[in-house]
Amino acid sequence: MKNKLQIEKINIDKLIKKYQTPLYVYSYNKLKNNYKKLTNILKKNIYYSVKANSNQAIISLFSKLGSGIDVVSGEELQRALKAKVNPNKIIFEGVGKSKDDLRLAIKKDIRQINIESVDEIKIINQLAKSLKRKINIGIRINPNIDGKTNKKISTGLDHNKFGINLKDLKKTIDKIKSSSNINFVGISCHIGSQIFSLSVYKRLFLKMIELEKFFTKNGLVVKHLDLGGGMGYDYAKKMKFDLYKFSRLINKYFSNVDYEISFEPGRFLTANSGLLITKILMIKSSRKINFIVVDAGMNTLIRPALYNEMHNIFSPKKNKGKKKYSIVGPICETSDTFAKEIVLPKQSIDDILIIEDVGAYGSSMSSNYNSKVLPAEILIKDNKDYLIRKRQDINELIKRDKIPKL
Ligand code: LLP
Repeated sequence: MKNKLQIEKINIDKLIKKYQTPLYVYSYNKLKNNYKKLTNILKKNIYYSVKANSNQAIISLFSKLGSGIDVVSGEELQRALKAKVNPNKIIFEGVGKSKDDLRLAIKKDIRQINIESVDEIKIINQLAKSLKRKINIGIRINPNIDGKTNKKISTGLDHNKFGINLKDLKKTIDKIKSSSNINFVGISCHIGSQIFSLSVYKRLFLKMIELEKFFTKNGLVVKHLDLGGGMGYDYAKKMKFDLYKFSRLINKYFSNVDYEISFEPGRFLTANSGLLITKILMIKSSRKINFIVVDAGMNTLIRPALYNEMHNIFSPKKNKGKKKYSIVGPICETSDTFAKEIVLPKQSIDDILIIEDVGAYGSSMSSNYNSKVLPAEILIKDNKDYLIRKRQDINELIKRDKIPKL
């Protein structure tokens, strides 16, 4: 059957013919509108958190719109630099930066490195000294505040590995003051992802204000206060993160401050911009369940398996007969399940299903499990499709292995 469904005037069948399935498709307009909406309402600086979607085309798109870029690994830093992001707009954080990562950040003189351990100060200072540089440092603080979200993506409590623990703040401040090649610029936090509660943010804001005062009292002036990302996106589309209320809350606490306020969202900017097109490989029934096996799996999109977060799935078919199906991938794990017993128009082998809202933590978390290749990714702008990542070739994977003569 021909699929009449179009993505911004491009026929899906044409896309599939050109790029095969599974296929990630992103909308330029949605990405741009998300950024514009966020900056127009919040009126604060944004550093796009690259981990949500690290395709260089997407990094470049946000960068050209004026966004700063937040990276959490040397590899993400290299991607951002390759995408021609001005180093002065890059913030680098993460609990485990290697010396090579730090050396690159210092050499490129990026805007700021956020430290997450006390020992990192010594390492950065020594590296900067040997490179004859002075580098801007921020401190990511673990404020011991519950983000009230899924435990796997909650980061702001004492028992989480992230940020400098409150008990170590004085030690951190003293260490910074005695380090000649670093320049303290500010403090940051990120207490988790998928936060919907504004009272959680209120608690966080109050804590960060208290901490800013503590730093000033101890002789370090905060020029930049970063409030992290985490703004929730409801995949079931039952509730919305209210940006206007969020903005009012920000203004209530931070309207007359003389330091830069920023956020580093990932999901909010990208989640709704992506679709995953997948083809039906098999249809089979157990005594109880009708299974549809599609060619995307937990290797392509791991979120349902890892966080039990179900993405909406729809079929472009318009036939009247309906049936209940569970949608699963081809990977040899029971967790490779995208949806349990959803109602769809009656499906056949080779039909297409579309998984929604995969723009964040979809492709960037995909893997080669079961030796599956990573799919192609395309960006649609003005009704034109642009290939932004080539589909992997199995031969590239195969040739990386070496069989030694044993
Ligand atoms: N800043 C830092 C330091 C982060 O660790 C993160 C996300 C963000 C900003 C952006 O958070 P967002 O605005 O996207 O919530 N893979 C999970 C999400 C993990 C988030 C990790 N850190 C998922 O698919 O739900």
